[in-house]
Amino acid sequence: MPTKKLRVLLAVHKTLLPPENPTAAEIRDSEWSAEYEVATALRDMGHEVKFVGLDDHIGDMRTAIWEFKPQLVFNLTEEFDGVAHFDQNIVSFLELLRVPYTGCNPRGLMVARDKALSKKILSFHSIPTPAFQVFPRHGSTKLATGLAFPLMVKSTTEEASLGIAQASVVQNETQLKERVAFIHEHLDTDAIVEQYISGREVYVGVMGNMRTEALPVWELNFGELSEQAEPIATRRVKWSSAYRKRYKISSGKAELSEAQETEAQDICRRAYRALGLSGYARMDLRLDAQGKFYVLEANPNCHIGEKEDFAQSADSKGLTYSELLWRILNLGLRWQPNRG
Ligand SMILES: Nc1ncnc2c1ncn2[C@@H]1O[C@H](COP(=O)(O)OP(=O)(O)O)[C@@H](O)[C@H]1O
Ligand SMILES: [Mg+2]
Repeated sequence: MPTKKLRVLLAVHKTLLPPENPTAAEIRDSEWSAEYEVATALRDMGHEVKFVGLDDHIGDMRTAIWEFKPQLVFNLTEEFDGVAHFDQNIVSFLELLRVPYTGCNPRGLMVARDKALSKKILSFHSIPTPAFQVFPRHGSTKLATGLAFPLMVKSTTEEASLGIAQASVVQNETQLKERVAFIHEHLDTDAIVEQYISGREVYVGVMGNMRTEALPVWELNFGELSEQAEPIATRRVKWSSAYRKRYKISSGKAELSEAQETEAQDICRRAYRALGLSGYARMDLRLDAQGKFYVLEANPNCHIGEKEDFAQSADSKGLTYSELLWRILNLGLRWQPNRG
């Protein structure tokens, strides 16, 4: 790794600002462990790191840039003013200020956030993704021909498995109507109804701007949950360590043939480019019993905590956490906003 020392402004949500000198136990139980790990790794590399905590006042970012004059903003924000899709506006603001930043560009964030729009683009590029139909909030609830039960009902724009539960997998018209109404009422977004792909769940990390690199395919193993319920990544599967422990749910390198590994990585690199992503992202896929992959969605600016799938997958390929962050940082320095 090169030795050039940079002033790095680490942009995080205000509630995720790590305290000064936390204890090991505080770090382990915290919600800001990723923020802390990134800061520590960057400091260990010799960079000068300052935090800016954002909530609903973008002036805080401008002031921090004014005072600290960073060469790069390391962007770990996921929302602004409580609105998840305002994450794209934060990087738009940085582009206007001509400050380089890590992670995805505004347009990529906007496209990937909309599952329906993303899938239209993926389909255009012949990238396999489950067949789908959108049920708008005030539109028809008639199921299109060509979609057969079981189906998966989700929000078009929410993420982190918000609105994903066992009831999201529907077997008939009554269940479909109920779940679509649930999404409309409780999440206040349009609903997307997809062909349910029964099979394995795999994730692929991709990094790059023009040239892309895919990380080893990672698998979410549902453990004993598969015996009792539909194996899908609900909120509890993703976020409750007690629940994961109870059902022996774990993640690790996917056991795939070399050809399948390469196929999944190629599909994901193509999807990443088709959606206009930059920086880094984790792609969510399903692999059915016939050995066919389907892209479920793209997650630009995915979690990059040291123990998260993305960093673990990089590590399995021999890329240490520092090396991974160094690459992400350099991709940020090299990204050129479109000025044409
Ligand atoms: N079409 C589908 N077939 C099977 N499982 C699905 C499908 N769509 C989503 N899932 C399950 O639901 C989870 C969350 O869906 P995803 O589209 O990744 O939304 P989120 O943005 O909430 O992560 C997936 O990880 C997967 O387990
Ligand atoms: Mg997902």
